[in-house]
Amino acid sequence: MLHLAIINGPNLNLLGVREPHIYGHQTFEGYLAELQQRFPDVSFQYYQSNVEGELINFLHDCMGQMQGIILNAGAYTHTSIAIADAVSAIGIPVVEVHISNVLAREDFRKTSFISSKCIGSISGLGLEGYALAVEYFLQSKK
Ligand code: DQA
Repeated sequence: MLHLAIINGPNLNLLGVREPHIYGHQTFEGYLAELQQRFPDVSFQYYQSNVEGELINFLHDCMGQMQGIILNAGAYTHTSIAIADAVSAIGIPVVEVHISNVLAREDFRKTSFISSKCIGSISGLGLEGYALAVEYFLQSKK
């Protein structure tokens, strides 16, 4: 069993409602149920918070528990050195995911403090980006 954490940052609790022309109509809870069906050999732990320090605490809690983390830090991606430091500190492979194509939007979204601490980044592929990150972890475990 592969143990993966999916961590969503601020405003991602509003998926399905929030700017659906950018982020789609599906809730993350609905998508997570699909992910669990698609990947029965993966144990998912989902965490969402709108609070920077809580996201950092959860990243710390993953130490010794998770084999990989899929992280969409939302707008903290573009602002948080503290989350970037936490990603470095925990020594667990992290894949950064963004639902929208952050490079095709406002200039302030083109900077990620987190990217350089991650294995890689997926951006602009919608919610499917999370499934592709799961595929990556499954492949890298073989
Ligand atoms: C996002 C992109 C961020 O720029 C934005 O602040 C979000 C969502 C995405 O998934 O596309 O909250 O991370």
